[in-house]
Amino acid sequence: MKILLINGPNLNLLGTREPQIYGATTLADVEAAARAQAQAAGAELAAFQSNHEGAIVDAIHAARTDGTGYIVINPGAFTHTSVAIRDALAGVAIPFLEVHISNVHKREAFRHHSYLSDVAVGTIVGLGTMGYTLALQYALAALAATPT
Ligand code: DQA
Repeated sequence: MKILLINGPNLNLLGTREPQIYGATTLADVEAAARAQAQAAGAELAAFQSNHEGAIVDAIHAARTDGTGYIVINPGAFTHTSVAIRDALAGVAIPFLEVHISNVHKREAFRHHSYLSDVAVGTIVGLGTMGYTLALQYALAALAATPT
């Protein structure tokens, strides 16, 4: 069971970036907790962060052939702009969950639309970095229930 955790632009700054919105937890903390959570369930977690749209598209394509069964993605600002990331996720046909640390619906109007939500299995918004934990819990349960 392999899960790919993808974080998009500016999420490398977690912990110092607008902490009143995104909190004090760093991306390294998020990734370490996710790895431990996956391992405890007998699964493997690969973590990837990039500020570049094409690099994220490439990482999604690579997941098609490396045994990845589920993707958890916080696409950052690309959520609201990227047809390419949407098409990549739809193209590889790997089930995915969309996570946002902040409640995007409480924020600027341009954050209310996501190019991904209607092709995601589900979305988690506004629960802080716990959103990653909850998404991973779901993905691990879904994979465990999937016959191989
Ligand atoms: C975000 C919300 C996006 O609107 C923003 O551009 C981000 C982070 C979140 O996790 O709340 O970079 O995806």
